[in-house]
Amino acid sequence: MFASGVLTQFVFARLSRNVPSLFFFTDNPPNHGYIWFQISQNQNLQNELAKEAKAGLPGKDDFPWNPDMLKQQFPLLDRTFSETNRKHPAAALGSSRSVGKKALVVGDGLELPENSVCLMPPWTLHRNERYWPDPETFDPSRFETAMDDPYAYQPFSGGPRNCIGIRLARAETLSLFAPLLRRYEIHCDSSREPKDSFSLTRRPRKKVMFRLTPRAD
Ligand code: HEM
Repeated sequence: MFASGVLTQFVFARLSRNVPSLFFFTDNPPNHGYIWFQISQNQNLQNELAKEAKAGLPGKDDFPWNPDMLKQQFPLLDRTFSETNRKHPAAALGSSRSVGKKALVVGDGLELPENSVCLMPPWTLHRNERYWPDPETFDPSRFETAMDDPYAYQPFSGGPRNCIGIRLARAETLSLFAPLLRRYEIHCDSSREPKDSFSLTRRPRKKVMFRLTPRAD
């Protein structure tokens, strides 16, 4: 009885601490807006994605809800998702972490004093030329090879308190976009490029409208 009561309290405490994250980060649509825009601006990429979607979905749209299989079936779409999250990380300013009671020395000898609070903004990290050459260029091929330093990429944070929903967010995006790209072309005027606004999560400042036309091929 005692053990199950403690366990319930523990689970409840963990759940209630994570409720804000569930509300803020599970809303994928702003993130999808950036993927739509990037695809609409690159006809070559869009054609390759359509080809991949046709090969991966030959006839019908129902495919397994298994993130690993989706990733294998739609590798270019998966890299497009990764690159969008590099260039437009939803938690652009990052989340804070406390150093604790002892000072820490990190990276190139930088000392973080005890009890200080640190932010690692993915927005700037993902534009650091040391890890991301020509960072303003949208290029899904960056993700063809494994990263030298996995901490150079943190749209989902890093370490033990990173996002628990990465696989769901990825699977959701791949299974939404593959059937769409198989049938439609996405258009958007380049002057409508979403301009970021920064608050707790990054999202476009204004609505961005897209036009879908049935694919001729
Ligand atoms: C593209 C979509 C998503 C992005 C960019 C994202 C990003 C993040 C980031 C940056 C954090 C770390 C916050 C921190 O360090 O305090 C986080 C944590 C979290 N995310 Fe996500 N997330 C996404 C989708 C999801 C989904 C689909 C779920 C749930 C179904 C989810 C649930 C959570 C939870 C519960 C945490 C807190 C984990 C912990 O503190 O141990 N997220 N997310």
